[in-house]
Amino acid sequence: MKIAIIGCGSMGSMLARHIALMHSVILCDRNKEKGEALAKETKCIFSHSPQQAIEEAEGVILAFKPKDLEAFSQQMGKCFLERHFIISILAGTSLLTLNRYFPQAQIIRGMPNLALTCAKGVMGLTAHLTVDKDIKEKAHSLFEGLGLITWVTEEKLEALSVLTGSAPAFIFVMIEAMIDSGIALGFSSHESKRLVLKTLEGSVELLSLTEKSPTDLKWQITSPGGSTIAGLEVLESRAIRGIIMQTYQASFKKVQSFLVEG
Ligand SMILES: NC(=O)c1ccc[n+]([C@@H]2O[C@H](COP(=O)([O-])OP(=O)(O)OC[C@H]3O[C@@H](n4cnc5c(N)ncnc54)[C@H](OP(=O)(O)O)[C@@H]3O)[C@@H](O)[C@H]2O)c1
Repeated sequence: MKIAIIGCGSMGSMLARHIALMHSVILCDRNKEKGEALAKETKCIFSHSPQQAIEEAEGVILAFKPKDLEAFSQQMGKCFLERHFIISILAGTSLLTLNRYFPQAQIIRGMPNLALTCAKGVMGLTAHLTVDKDIKEKAHSLFEGLGLITWVTEEKLEALSVLTGSAPAFIFVMIEAMIDSGIALGFSSHESKRLVLKTLEGSVELLSLTEKSPTDLKWQITSPGGSTIAGLEVLESRAIRGIIMQTYQASFKKVQSFLVEG
């Protein structure tokens, strides 16, 4: 397939590095140096003209910030034809809005997360009911190998942006606190990071390989009157679950407010 990627920032670059392994990619960015450097690295073509890139491509990935959408659509909207499909990764920009700007093209929305960079990410995808099955299959295939690719309703895509998009930031805060705890227990920051990451990796692996719930696994290592239950008692006394749930809810509320404002 011939794919144009408009916007070579952190997300556009990450997608270009992967998609260029299997497909012909034309890169566009209004920052020439940035686009050319990425083209050199990925052996893609850089085009100064978004119009030319769109005309040559079958699929176009929009990877710039939502604030740039209006200007882009005014300049390029007419270049999109029925044969085009668009994958927009613009946060908070609905299919309805995108369809208004690009009425000819078939439109898919994608919600990437940072871990796609190490092929352990999640890419949520959604499309209007009218998008052809083969277009959805083509879009899906572009992201294969980057992690979990999942099709959801558009409403769920906004929730997914919290559960998988924002959540790594929440997780990094928790990891940081765990590493600090290791330092307080006498390990160097390097040792503590190594031990904490291996413990996390093992816990995730255990949970993935079993039908057991997190509660079952927790009880497996919690002996009566022991050190683990003493630690758990502190977490429970500070309502750790409530804090985590409120964190996700606050983030989701913000996502919804962007949608209303946008
Ligand atoms: N970063 C994340 O974790 C994440 C997660 C999910 C979704 N997203 C979405 O992904 C999109 C890209 O995010 P990002 O962090 O990669 O942004 P970014 O680093 O700012 O990259 C966007 C690039 O597109 C360029 N650009 C803007 N308008 C253009 C146009 N009309 N033609 C060509 N190039 C243009 C920008 O140039 P200038 O520098 O001159 O503006 C910039 O180089 C956003 O819509 C965001 O909502 C990001």
